[in-house]
Amino acid sequence: MDVVKVRQLVRYHAKEIGLGIVDQTRITTAASELFRNMFLYAEGGDVLMDAGIYNDHKAFIITCIDRGPGIEDIEMAMKDGYSTGDGMGYGLPGSKRLVDDFYIESTVNQGTTVRIMKWI
Ligand SMILES: Nc1ncnc2c1ncn2[C@@H]1O[C@H](COP(=O)(O)OP(=O)(O)O)[C@@H](O)[C@H]1O
Ligand SMILES: [Mg+2]
Repeated sequence: MDVVKVRQLVRYHAKEIGLGIVDQTRITTAASELFRNMFLYAEGGDVLMDAGIYNDHKAFIITCIDRGPGIEDIEMAMKDGYSTGDGMGYGLPGSKRLVDDFYIESTVNQGTTVRIMKWI
């Protein structure tokens, strides 16, 4: 899998599930950043896509799971411009701004899970 294929797959399912073109682009862009991070920092991982009901909203749900090094300080990692590499540091905070729900969980030496949702 590469970022282009993941983008295509996310967009396909986002459209299929009934998201408008703007929201399709938002969730696709958000998921791309998470996918990029999994490859950069964790040598890849899994991308799960689902539909469901969350807090009374019909939701398109994407969960990115890796078993990489984990994130030591999530609060820092969520700040604009913070990068431990030579990235721009806008991947995680940018992704959060593009979706309706954002959840991140990470354990050092175990891995990282990020779940994003867009209301349908
Ligand atoms: N899946 C991940 N596994 C380990 N560390 C991660 C992961 N995703 C993000 N990080 C850490 O969080 C920081 C911020 O991520 P991000 O906002 O995407 O910025 P960037 O990728 O440009 O550095 C990264 O520099 C990295 O240290
Ligand atoms: Mg990034």
